[in-house]
Amino acid sequence: MKKMFLAIESSCDETAAAVVAEGREILSNVVQSSASLHERFGGVVPELASRAHLEAVVPVVDQALAEADLSVADLTGLGVCAGPGLLGSLIVGVSAAKALAFASGKPLVPVHHLASHIAANYLAFQDLEPPFLALVVSGAHAHIVEVQDYNSFVILARTRDDAPGEAYDKISRELGLAYPGGPKLDKLARMGNAQALDLPHPHFEDSLDFSFSGIKTASLNALNKAKQQAKTRLVRREDILADKDLAAAFQEAVVASLLEHVSQALDQTGYDKLVLAGGVSANSWLRDQSEALSRERGLKLYVPPLTLCTDNAAMTAAQSYYAYEAGERADLKLNATAMWELGSPIPH
Ligand code: KG4
Ligand code: ZN
Repeated sequence: MKKMFLAIESSCDETAAAVVAEGREILSNVVQSSASLHERFGGVVPELASRAHLEAVVPVVDQALAEADLSVADLTGLGVCAGPGLLGSLIVGVSAAKALAFASGKPLVPVHHLASHIAANYLAFQDLEPPFLALVVSGAHAHIVEVQDYNSFVILARTRDDAPGEAYDKISRELGLAYPGGPKLDKLARMGNAQALDLPHPHFEDSLDFSFSGIKTASLNALNKAKQQAKTRLVRREDILADKDLAAAFQEAVVASLLEHVSQALDQTGYDKLVLAGGVSANSWLRDQSEALSRERGLKLYVPPLTLCTDNAAMTAAQSYYAYEAGERADLKLNATAMWELGSPIPH
């Protein structure tokens, strides 16, 4: 009998439930986003997100079971994203998973959101097994992670300020692109000339850590200058920085910075497998440049399909299986946790 997990993911603005067999085979994968509710605010409004989760969670779980053609009794256990993320949002998913575990008597397995993003690759690539190096880039994180085993993670680099997705969303908001702006900015950038603006590539002494706030601020300053110039009409239109060129320069700087640090991490660790994970791994320039880097260095590169890059519960169910196999269990005292470092025990 295959071990099957239903998992719930509600860490941000997606209410998601999915059923996965043996950590590798997707039987159903349902995602309902509340992004349209947040659009006019230019970013996720936590209270609106929690309320949307509350309305969506039961129908989404029902649909995931129906599409998998299973009942709760057929499951091995329940997985849930317990953090990190928006507390009010996480609580909805954790409460639903606890209720299902209590009612069915099945084990409850809490998983880390970023471990799940990494696990999205197990669904897409049946041959992929740890150890490997992962670049995990999302709306809230940028980590280079040594994935020593399915449940063993060492963070080699993190961002000291903004996350790349956060910077993408901020710049795209200033460009008038609707939330979530990452994919729209990505498209606009592909039409522009990255050489039109020189942006910093920050480094820290003796550290692989990232910083994106300098790139973000320099981009915002250039954008404001262009807006002013357009208003005063003292500068010829062709001499004003175009939105698409700003987008291209921003995208080039973010991706170059990510991959320069990944190269250094590969030099230091000697891994020959590189895995991308998280919402920003949907970025077309990051995907292209990672391929180029992998060809150059003779690496095997793993990049999830777009639907598994952004938040979903199939990745959560995959990681739940591996956490369960390692003996991870929670009781009904499980709490959602907004802050939880990857590779550390769940905070109590
Ligand atoms: O992993 P994710 O779905 O949620 C978090 O865990 O944060 O990542 C969402 C982030 C958002 O900031 C979104 O703008 C960004 O991923 N994103 C992208 C692209 N697609 C999504 N950023 C750049 N280029 C993209 N194509
Ligand atoms: Zn995420």
